[in-house]
Amino acid sequence: MKSGYHGFEALWHDLFWEAEEAPSEVLLIDDFLQDKEGKSLYVGSGSGRLLGPLVEAGHELVGLEVSSEMVALSREKYAAVEVIEESWQEHEGKYGSILIPAFTFQLFEDPQRQLERLREQTNDLYLTLFFPWAELSGDLPANKWYFDRSITLPSGEMGELETRHKIREQTGSLVRKHRYVMKDASGEIIRKEETEQRMRFFTDVALKNLLKKTGWEIVKEIHNLGDGEEDDLIYVSTLHLSASEK
Ligand SMILES: C[S@@+](CC[C@H](N)C(=O)[O-])C[C@H]1O[C@@H](n2cnc3c(N)ncnc32)[C@H](O)[C@@H]1O
Repeated sequence: MKSGYHGFEALWHDLFWEAEEAPSEVLLIDDFLQDKEGKSLYVGSGSGRLLGPLVEAGHELVGLEVSSEMVALSREKYAAVEVIEESWQEHEGKYGSILIPAFTFQLFEDPQRQLERLREQTNDLYLTLFFPWAELSGDLPANKWYFDRSITLPSGEMGELETRHKIREQTGSLVRKHRYVMKDASGEIIRKEETEQRMRFFTDVALKNLLKKTGWEIVKEIHNLGDGEEDDLIYVSTLHLSASEK
């Protein structure tokens, strides 16, 4: 299963994200970078949605993105912002810090190996992970297509997203199929595209064990992108990690 975004999934990525009205990670990343020195690598920088404003705010950042379509969107919107077109698993280099926001880390196979590799590339890591409470609790039905979200495209057409998921509890993975449907103003289907992705997820205990084993210490943890109440379920965890002894 490839982890890079293509087709409607790439083109409509930011519009769906906006439609969700979730708080932006720009301020959280800005806060993380305050006391960091040297160049940072942003893994899975996508269309530049967060990378662009961060570079414009004066941070020394380079984007890394495997999807040529995402890279093209980023270069079109933020021509002056450096983006390397490459899979992170192939990328060599050492950085002052590394950023992996927006759940991209969960698309990667073998999280332990990836955390070890990140440890070789930097001493300071920013990571945002999501936990699929809605899927695990049954609030979203498994093995069945359901309506997810819809957006109005800049061209006036409609973009609809339907999702179908299955949970593999033993391996801690969520396999999601997405069906992107473009419709004209009368509701007629113009085009459909299907994608599939597997996301690893971690219980709090499993994640803490994994971080300890791979030489990472939690310096700061932010819940639900800093939004909501103390005792809300934690859907999203943002971690500031620092290298420790294994
Ligand atoms: C959930 S999107 C997040 C995009 C961006 N961080 C944002 O918040 O707008 C994940 C991005 O990671 C990219 N990606 C996935 N696997 C990758 C890999 N192995 N190396 C580099 N980029 C990758 C995808 O193509 C996609 O653009």
